[in-house]
Amino acid sequence: MNPLEVNISSLKIRNPTMLAAGVLGISASLLRNAYKSGAGIVVTKSISKNPRFGNRNPVVYELKYGLLNSIGLSNPGCEEFLKEVNELRKDNIPFILSVYGESVDEFKYLIKFFNDYVNAFELNLSCPNVKTGLEFIKDVELVFDIVREVKSITKKPIFVKISATVNDVVDVGKACEEAGADAIVAINSIKAMKIDIRLKKPVLSSIFGGLSGEAIKPIALRCVYELKKELSIPIIGCGGISCGEDAVEFLLAGASAIQIGTAVYKKGLRIFRDICMFIKNYLNENGYSKLDEIIGLAHKA
Ligand code: FUM
Repeated sequence: MNPLEVNISSLKIRNPTMLAAGVLGISASLLRNAYKSGAGIVVTKSISKNPRFGNRNPVVYELKYGLLNSIGLSNPGCEEFLKEVNELRKDNIPFILSVYGESVDEFKYLIKFFNDYVNAFELNLSCPNVKTGLEFIKDVELVFDIVREVKSITKKPIFVKISATVNDVVDVGKACEEAGADAIVAINSIKAMKIDIRLKKPVLSSIFGGLSGEAIKPIALRCVYELKKELSIPIIGCGGISCGEDAVEFLLAGASAIQIGTAVYKKGLRIFRDICMFIKNYLNENGYSKLDEIIGLAHKA
């Protein structure tokens, strides 16, 4: 028996670590490397119907406590990305396809387009770098409609990536659950900025970007805890997880799995194996035989 195996909806995952959407998700070879380095499953960069060129450089700025990015969802569009999807399938790499649409119809188009090829979908409803990202996630009824419409045309698991930049993360989570979502991914990066005091201007061309990494971990953890308390569907934790201890915190808060993005950028691909090793040791040292036994334990304290 593999003590780290996770089941989310009908999706069996060999361990709870996932490569988060973004960083390495734009090509099959990078996704394959992440999987071969130990990620339980990998999530692609968000793919849209048509190609997107994204924002003008500079779009990434490294901070001591995280990363600021304003990529702007650059991607080659669904037709072109199908080649990468076919590569992944050829190599038997399990993956979750992140999709981004500017309307309900565009989300539906993408789900139909990729339906036969993916293990699951992640709906990106919360990108801070495009106008519709934060507009969508703040409109609970629209979130409900998108998820319900998408669920009506696919049997594949639908995960919804949400933001902490809302009035109440639980309201958003409940809307997703009621509309049929199979899991919530919490959270996306948080709209933020940095100013260069010598140049006296923002460091990013688009002024604002999404803050990810260690700085947002306590916020992400709080969201996972709140969601777990009120929802029945699985929660996937995302935001600043950069070591085994962080991962265990998210599991105890109620995450069934965790996504890692910025820490892969900062520490490299060995992070997946390091985190799995830490979790395995933690289970052993504390007398547990499988991962399930610790999920949400912090709620009982
Ligand atoms: O700008 C970006 O590509 C980031 C996307 C996201 O955070 O969802």
